[in-house]
Amino acid sequence: MPFSHRHVVLGVSGGIACYKSCFLARRLTEAGATVDVVLTAAAAEFVRPVTFEALTGRPVLTSLWERGGGRALAHIDLAKEPDLVIVAPATANLLARAAMGMADDLLTALLLARARRLVLAAPAMNDDMYANPATTANIKTLESRGWHFIGPESGALAEGPSERPGRMSEPDAIFAAAAQLLEQGDNPGKSKWSGKRVVVTAGPTREHLDPVRVITNPSSGRMGYALAEAARARGADVVLVSGPTELTPPAGLKTQHVETTEQMQQAVQGLVGSADALIMSAAPADYRPATQSAKKRPRSNGAFTLELEATPDILGSLTRRKGMVVVGFALETGNGLANARSKMQNKALDYVILNDATEPGAGFEVTTNRVTILGPGGKQVDLPLLPKRDVADRILDVVEEAL
Ligand code: CTP
Repeated sequence: MPFSHRHVVLGVSGGIACYKSCFLARRLTEAGATVDVVLTAAAAEFVRPVTFEALTGRPVLTSLWERGGGRALAHIDLAKEPDLVIVAPATANLLARAAMGMADDLLTALLLARARRLVLAAPAMNDDMYANPATTANIKTLESRGWHFIGPESGALAEGPSERPGRMSEPDAIFAAAAQLLEQGDNPGKSKWSGKRVVVTAGPTREHLDPVRVITNPSSGRMGYALAEAARARGADVVLVSGPTELTPPAGLKTQHVETTEQMQQAVQGLVGSADALIMSAAPADYRPATQSAKKRPRSNGAFTLELEATPDILGSLTRRKGMVVVGFALETGNGLANARSKMQNKALDYVILNDATEPGAGFEVTTNRVTILGPGGKQVDLPLLPKRDVADRILDVVEEAL
């Protein structure tokens, strides 16, 4: 168990997501870790220290000046001790202070003093703040210094629902990412994904009838983005090929934006020459208008018949590198297992991820998914309904056996 006899510092900065850190503190403690919680002054306004003390059974530290547990200069002590520091939530302000190397409270002093240790941050903030180039630059800076990041996700924020990321990852996902980091420890080469080149496709594609009208589908891209982020968190060198989506690409990976199925085909073909794995989670449009009008077709022309032709089958037409692991998806609306098995064979897939578009909570436009993974030798793994990021991790757990 990665947490038994491990010392974890849980740094909590001031955002509404603080309440979720209570669940995280409890899970870490239950898993056998010694958890020292460090609250910023703002965090202590959201959740009182006594809550974390009750959950961890340890004194909570909030100030540079206190002598908690008989420890003078607590930040220097803590800098030597912990195996892992988790910052959850990591607010925009905390990330800015850490990126600047400031040490104006206990948490930032600790982060500065233990610059060589493992740090996992779970950003949480307003979606505009997350999209701001200042925050992007701060995250890049911290990543270049070895920080690991999980999230943020899109979904409900304090201001209401948002399609853009800002919401802190769920405690269970942070716990899983922390477990993985501890297992890899100072030897990230242990992850089977470490250094592997992984191409992930995501989202729909769009085919134009004329300059203002398109054929597309309701894919949100969330499953593909979650897979790309999960592979990167495991140390893979990830390129995300994304159709048009509302999502902000996760920090720390290369993204190529495409619009049509043919563009996606060209992008993927250009990348797979050196890839170790291809995960085709995109939902490319299967049809496009046989002819495109260069000008907007006026409505006053009345009804018309549109002739469609098939777009290229990206997986079907791919020239593959020998040994590359290929994962496809099968979105079905009935007879799922049989269809998925035949796609696996016809498209020469190592794994196929089957989901049913008619099942509540699965498929397009939702933040959860329920999938069945089919693999070599008749392997079949049925997963329960889970958040897409958790589904992504479970898929990678299965697929990594082929790497
Ligand atoms: N796919 C692809 N090229 C396309 C369409 C789909 O490579 N033009 C990929 C998808 O990304 C997915 C897999 O093929 O990984 C299966 O996609 P799906 O839409 O389920 O199957 P189709 O090939 O479109 O077959 P059908 O419409 O007959 O179900």
